[in-house]
Amino acid sequence: MSGISLHKVGKSYGSVEVLHDIDLEIPEGQMTVLLGPSGCGKSTLLRMIAGLEPITRGKLLIGGREVNTVAAKERGCAMVFQSYALYPHLTVYKNLAFPLTMAGEKPEAIRQKVNATAEMLQIAPYLDRLPRDLSGGQRQRVAMGRAIIREPNVYLFDEPLSNLDAALRVKMRLEIARLQRELQATMLFVTHDQVEAMTLAHQIVVMNDGYVEQVGAPLDIYRQPASRFVATFIGSPGMNVLDVEAVRHDGSAAQVTLQNGCLLAVESSDPLLVKAIAVRPEALSFSPDPMKQCVEFAVGDFTILGIEQLGDRAFCYISTTAGEIAVAVDSGVSVDSVTDGGKLGIWVHRDDLLTFDAGGRAISNMQKVAEPA
Ligand SMILES: Nc1ncnc2c1ncn2[C@@H]1O[C@H](COP(=O)(O)OP(=O)(O)O)[C@@H](O)[C@H]1O
Ligand SMILES: [Mg+2]
Repeated sequence: MSGISLHKVGKSYGSVEVLHDIDLEIPEGQMTVLLGPSGCGKSTLLRMIAGLEPITRGKLLIGGREVNTVAAKERGCAMVFQSYALYPHLTVYKNLAFPLTMAGEKPEAIRQKVNATAEMLQIAPYLDRLPRDLSGGQRQRVAMGRAIIREPNVYLFDEPLSNLDAALRVKMRLEIARLQRELQATMLFVTHDQVEAMTLAHQIVVMNDGYVEQVGAPLDIYRQPASRFVATFIGSPGMNVLDVEAVRHDGSAAQVTLQNGCLLAVESSDPLLVKAIAVRPEALSFSPDPMKQCVEFAVGDFTILGIEQLGDRAFCYISTTAGEIAVAVDSGVSVDSVTDGGKLGIWVHRDDLLTFDAGGRAISNMQKVAEPA
């Protein structure tokens, strides 16, 4: 049993509260990713779970046991950091063997485990080297090996791939995902990189400013962000969010007025609460003519700022009188071909428009079911 539960867990440094009443379930045998911008409290939360940082308030359980005051080494967690923290004067073999030697295991058992771990992580050829004679990726593997070799109940990773170059990061990401599947281990992985989170996680926990903004499967968070923050943080570029000036409605069908006076039809369970609308760049299309089942994303006069070519995709950035937006376009499209034909509309499928209230929380676009009398 290695699931982790947090009940109203908080952290303060002096009078400054950096984590506020965190309620969270980290399921056993899955990869959970803590995602959020720098300074939002990810490392602090991880260190509290590891037992490296005292908990100010609330209750922390690992495998159903309260561990608030249990020492780090009694919690069954192994941690891998961004800085690999290897012993520089010990060979790879001895670095891997160290935790087992400390635990008093027999030399033969140690040899077997070191060899098996080195095999799994493809570092067997380097067992006699010192860390300084390894590449960044190899060092990272040794650091992971040292965590794995203790067969912990819970793996905690704090941005372990941030120091690697882009290609190696992708490779290590796949390896960590493979390890997780092979070991069926409970892993908690911290990152500020949303691509890393989307590709690794069974469950993503989006954090902002010491609060949990949303918990969910990667695609659910992508498709149904619970807040304006999540809408703009997830996706590259994130969702286009435009403020709303006024709303007129008839049931769940509403017409919102953007800040530049443009009108847009939306569906919302609570039209009167709508203060902003959001749409993904890939849900927008350019067309001079009306598009089937779409509403015109009327944003008034606009100027094309430029097109970002990413090879497989491209994004057209537009300055409108209601705000700046990004529209996904076919790869290779030029500014001239986008504007070809004079009048140009931007169209969006009505279901792809999300609405947010004054506090930045998402409003469902389903019609509310009437409460039975
Ligand atoms: N030892 C400390 N004393 C005071 N404030 C701290 C300490 N450690 C972290 N903080 C503050 O707590 C907040 C969260 O930090 P951290 O958990 O490192 O964020 P993240 O890992 O998401 O970048 C930050 O505002 C940081 O300045
Ligand atoms: Mg951190």
